[in-house]
Amino acid sequence: MSVTIEKVRPEDAAALLDYLRQIGGESDNLTFGAEGLPVTVEEEEAFLQKQAAQTRGVMLLAWEDGEIVGDGHIEPFSRRMSHRAGLGITVRKRAWGLGIGTAIMERLIAHAREHRVEIIELQVRSDNVRAIRLYEKFGFVKIGHYPGFLKVNGVDVDCDLMNLYL
Ligand SMILES: CC(C)(COP(=O)(O)OP(=O)(O)OC[C@H]1O[C@@H](n2cnc3c(N)ncnc32)[C@H](O)[C@@H]1OP(=O)(O)O)[C@@H](O)C(=O)NCCC(=O)NCCS
Repeated sequence: MSVTIEKVRPEDAAALLDYLRQIGGESDNLTFGAEGLPVTVEEEEAFLQKQAAQTRGVMLLAWEDGEIVGDGHIEPFSRRMSHRAGLGITVRKRAWGLGIGTAIMERLIAHAREHRVEIIELQVRSDNVRAIRLYEKFGFVKIGHYPGFLKVNGVDVDCDLMNLYL
């Protein structure tokens, strides 16, 4: 399998929205399901244009044979929170366990370091063992537990809050 990891480009908008709908339907771990994000291709393209114009944050796509198999982003906060950034990551289910998540995390953390982010933070379902292992492998520590952080099909789901101190 040959996977490349690239910065997202505005012209990836349609493929990205399609990918998000697919992975939304593959697990109940995300903040959305098979419906994906409520934005049009044009809106997503405009959002990605803005992303491309700033350097502190980054969104990466993992590609295999012209198909998106993973994504990850670092989203820096502003003002008195500008030492912090959020992180999100997904990999297509058929490609889980092959090291793609690890490769994306390495790139995201290196980017955050280069841009002097001091704390990377994320929220993860408390029962998402696979993701929690991945985060712990990179030094993330649990700093809190948020009961009912998500509501999935009417059911409250707890999340852990995890930080990486760079
Ligand atoms: C979490 C996710 C991104 C991991 O991606 P991945 O490509 O499968 O990750 P990798 O193959 O690099 O594995 C990373 C680590 O996960 C852990 N892991 C892998 N398979 C596992 C399994 N079956 N059970 C538990 N942990 C496992 C290991 O610690 C592994 O590192 P190691 O192989 O060095 O020990 C992916 O499973 C995913 O997208 N899940 C659905 C969306 C999601 O949960 N996103 C996170 C929301 S907070």
